[in-house]
Amino acid sequence: MPDTGTFGYASPSNQILIAREKLQTRVAELGRQIEQDYAGKDLVMVCILKGGVMFLTDLMRAIRIPHAIDFMAVSSYGIGARESTGVVRIIMDLERDIRGKHVLLVEDIIDSGRTLNYICEVLNARGPATLRICTLLNKYERREVEVPLDYVGFNIPNEFVFGYGLDIDELYRNLPFIGVFKD
Ligand code: IMP
Ligand code: MG
Repeated sequence: MPDTGTFGYASPSNQILIAREKLQTRVAELGRQIEQDYAGKDLVMVCILKGGVMFLTDLMRAIRIPHAIDFMAVSSYGIGARESTGVVRIIMDLERDIRGKHVLLVEDIIDSGRTLNYICEVLNARGPATLRICTLLNKYERREVEVPLDYVGFNIPNEFVFGYGLDIDELYRNLPFIGVFKD
């Protein structure tokens, strides 16, 4: 295991699932694909806070066409919980109207699919030209609600992961790699 002490985090029982370089390479690939697909279109990337924030900022830098960004915060877990409750609350809504825009949702991870399914229902009702989904991680084995994924960074096994935006009880979002929580 690489030395993660620099980030204030080290536990022999936790492992790195996706290293920094691998993340960066994949984000660059997704950026190429997205800029081709949205060339000439009025693109708004909507980041779901807080988990999607590191992915969004790297992805934006990999996309060389003009685009706007906006943020939305929802809550589906309580502190300490590891399962989606199915009850999704909007904590913070978008700043701008998305009517007629090409909206790309940028998410950290799709687990049960409940959170994203709810967000899609809410946003589709506002009349975007298109609504598509870009997720860094896809925990496909856990899916309970079908959501169409347009861009997927990595399919991952059913394990609790952290780092690169994803938290364990609000910590470790700053890590530049994805780790697996084993404790
Ligand atoms: P879903 O509604 O079950 O799809 O849950 C999606 C949300 O749960 C994500 O946006 C994450 O914030 C959180 N989540 C799901 N799996 C993990 C994980 O392995 N680590 C950290 N957060 C997770
Ligand atoms: Mg979370």
